[in-house]
Amino acid sequence: MKKSAHLDTLAVHAGRAVDPTTGAVAASPVLATTFERDADGAMSRGFVYSRTESPNRAALETALATLEGGREALAFASGQAATAAVLQALAPGARVVFPDDIYHGTRHLVKQEFGRWGIVADFVDFSDLTAVTKALAQPTALVWIETPSNPRLKIADIAALALLGRAAGALVVADNTWATPLLTQPLALGAHIAMHSTTKYIGGHSDVLGGALIVGHDCPPETAARLRSWQKLGGAVPAPFDCWLLLRSLATMPVRLRAQSATAAKLAGFLAAHPRVERVNYPGLATHPGHAIAQRQMASGGAMLSFEVRGDLAAARAVAGRVQLITRATSLGGVESLLEHRKPIEGADSPTPDNLLRLSVGLEHIDDLIADLQHALG
Ligand SMILES: Cc1ncc(COP(=O)(O)O)c(C=O)c1O
Repeated sequence: MKKSAHLDTLAVHAGRAVDPTTGAVAASPVLATTFERDADGAMSRGFVYSRTESPNRAALETALATLEGGREALAFASGQAATAAVLQALAPGARVVFPDDIYHGTRHLVKQEFGRWGIVADFVDFSDLTAVTKALAQPTALVWIETPSNPRLKIADIAALALLGRAAGALVVADNTWATPLLTQPLALGAHIAMHSTTKYIGGHSDVLGGALIVGHDCPPETAARLRSWQKLGGAVPAPFDCWLLLRSLATMPVRLRAQSATAAKLAGFLAAHPRVERVNYPGLATHPGHAIAQRQMASGGAMLSFEVRGDLAAARAVAGRVQLITRATSLGGVESLLEHRKPIEGADSPTPDNLLRLSVGLEHIDDLIADLQHALG
């Protein structure tokens, strides 16, 4: 298969091959934790122990590296484990610059846990490049991009931020969970590393947890080696069956995401015109402040949106309480639509507005989703 093949083709074929011994077209999970040595003690088949490498993980990593255009990929047990590995790979006392709107788990991880280990985190509005430039005037080890951001769907200009970050001598990492390689290619835009919660669109069915780092061709080799070391020695690796599920689901990711994004665009239009909705955060809308950048770096507006209902926290809770088809649940990227009132779960220190509801758009029919939201909004 040509590396230049289209992403839909790569999603189906990368990391997969017909089994040479049985002819099986679909791979099976290899659950073994340990692998036989050769008579001379060598490991000519490449596998030693499933914490350090496993056949299903190797296949998943090959596929993810291919889709993101990276040198190699490292699979982890969750998105948070992948993020933690990046922070663990920094020197003690390093200063990191993060966006102000960001997945709250990432914010808590870097502030609460890595703060205790001396990592200093600054949170900056990434849509304001002057503010970022100012933040980077101090020595910075890492610039962490998340675009679209969770939950306000702010758009960060990856190419501009990568240039600034690189000029400051920082490692540039982009959390590409919400866009996926189908919509955005952060490594081509200048990031050193693309990060994923594979739990979301790559898994796509709300039944497997995972994370990944895809290391770009010009990522400093010592960083890549340290990340691999944290993966193997830290041991927060995905089980073979989880890797198998993720690779299986990856094949349909482009088709799912394209359909989900088309529905999300229509829902964003419906919500923007609704009198009970104060604001819709969806980068596909021409009114979104990051729309022009999104058009440059995203193939579509994606399948996530958030909206602020007229009223306060209680008004938003009431709307969430009335959905019947859409499920009230955290997480995103699955085939079923999920709605979440974010503020109560993010905590008092979160900048998320009280009246914001986040919607992960699934594969249901648009008319049924509109009817459900119409009813919920009252
Ligand atoms: C943008 C983003 N990054 C990272 C994560 C964390 O991933 P996981 O739950 O797989 O640890 C999430 C989870 O919602 C997310 O939305």
